[in-house]
Amino acid sequence: MTTTPLADRHATTTVAARATELSKIYGQGETRVVALDQVSVDFRQAEFTAIMGPSGSGKSTLMHCVAGLDSFSSGSVRIGDTELGSLKDKQLTKLRRDKIGFIFQAFNLLPTLTALENITLPMDIAGRRPDKQWLDSVISMIGLADRLTHRPSQLSGGQQQRVAVARALASRPDIIFGDEPTGNLDSRAGAEVLGFLRNSVRELGQTVVMVTHDPVAAAYADRVVFLADGRIVDELYDPTADAVLDRMKRLDTRTVRTS
Ligand SMILES: Nc1ncnc2c1ncn2[C@@H]1O[C@H](COP(=O)(O)OP(=O)(O)O)[C@@H](O)[C@H]1O
Ligand SMILES: [Mg+2]
Repeated sequence: MTTTPLADRHATTTVAARATELSKIYGQGETRVVALDQVSVDFRQAEFTAIMGPSGSGKSTLMHCVAGLDSFSSGSVRIGDTELGSLKDKQLTKLRRDKIGFIFQAFNLLPTLTALENITLPMDIAGRRPDKQWLDSVISMIGLADRLTHRPSQLSGGQQQRVAVARALASRPDIIFGDEPTGNLDSRAGAEVLGFLRNSVRELGQTVVMVTHDPVAAAYADRVVFLADGRIVDELYDPTADAVLDRMKRLDTRTVRTS
């Protein structure tokens, strides 16, 4: 594998999502918590980014704010060319539906629908016809072709999460967000799901942002962004699990020393 110098690699890429001086404050007075403290970060097209950091460092908050699932206190968020702060609720719902895919720790499949019906459900609700060729390539990549008529209860946890990944990919969103997508899976099923996410970036040009606390999961990404106390404190390209673990250890010592 050849490595491209970072400057070259970024010169030609487009930003899929951008947070600028993004802050999120919960509560007030004694219960005030600064969950995000002026975070600025770009997520580039066709790049797989992992967000890591200790528990409570703001990972989920950052993902939810950038994905338009949660409001923020100050700063700005852009998905493509659209500023989220300028949107009314209805427009935000539409943007989430049309431009963003989500994968959560809980698979959130509808038990009465087949795998295929679950995969196309968001598009059916939106009244959009799936691009057949794209859908076929997603389904074959995820290896679910012989399970499409099964209901979630007839599938293993790993297979259910693969359905959830296919559902997120089906509408060909501009960006996919995952919050601990492998959190409920054993390491083998987790590795499969992470492999598919990585392939969707490599082979289909998808953009993926994944929150995780697992260095092995983060090593599937192209880039890892480290959060501590609501701030970005480090960044790593072409990560290995060992390198990620090493940075996390340093973060933990830092947190202990400063608290
Ligand atoms: N709804 C909420 N109300 C008050 N505080 C919250 C809420 N959600 C998160 N927090 C606080 O914000 C900080 C960041 O939380 P979170 O983004 O969930 O961290 P992570 O995902 O990294 O574990 C934590 O201190 C957490 O307790
Ligand atoms: Mg979290």
